[in-house]
Amino acid sequence: MLIDSRRDEPAANLPTSLDQLYALLEQQTDAPREKFSERLIRGTGPDHADIMIIGEQPGDQEDLQGKPFVGPAGQLLDRALEQAHIDRQQTFLTNAVKRFKYSQRGKRRIHETPNVGEINYYRWWVEQEIRLVNPRLVVALGATAARCLTGKAVTISRHRGEILPGADGRSVLITVHPSFLLRIPDKQGRQVEYAKFVRDLQLAKDFVR
Ligand code: URA
Repeated sequence: MLIDSRRDEPAANLPTSLDQLYALLEQQTDAPREKFSERLIRGTGPDHADIMIIGEQPGDQEDLQGKPFVGPAGQLLDRALEQAHIDRQQTFLTNAVKRFKYSQRGKRRIHETPNVGEINYYRWWVEQEIRLVNPRLVVALGATAARCLTGKAVTISRHRGEILPGADGRSVLITVHPSFLLRIPDKQGRQVEYAKFVRDLQLAKDFVR
């Protein structure tokens, strides 16, 4: 299993900016490569934000465009953020795993879920993003982000809408991933779950108010 080799980095060596952090990550030769795109997708948003939202990993569109949350899940997230009165431009958006993992099927690139070792590999990097952006609340979208932020498996259906202590003691709001909403086959079920998702985001807004 891949383990995070940087866990014991002395404080004096920690990156002092996001640019430095991502440049350092680009140089890592031990990052998981099998099935991963080469392209590193950095987080977007202000250098300091009250709310930081963490997804699973970039998807096909994110990998092509070089930005997080620009594909179908990102568009759904945008709509829900707007309804929760959260300004995306004032929010920092990033992913637990920084590259797109996929399998090639014909011309299509099919998303593959990152494994625990791959999530663990990127954990230190996410912790550094959080330290630098210094949000008051981190929102975990789905199980991969929740594992990355709490250091353990979290059952989303049981804990969604709860604010849990993250590994560094920072508050982490658990909610579903927007891709989960896109996969719900019936319209009514999708509407119900979408409304709950907006409610979870409103909790985030209330928390930082
Ligand atoms: N899903 C994610 O988790 N992150 C993205 O950036 C896009 C889709």
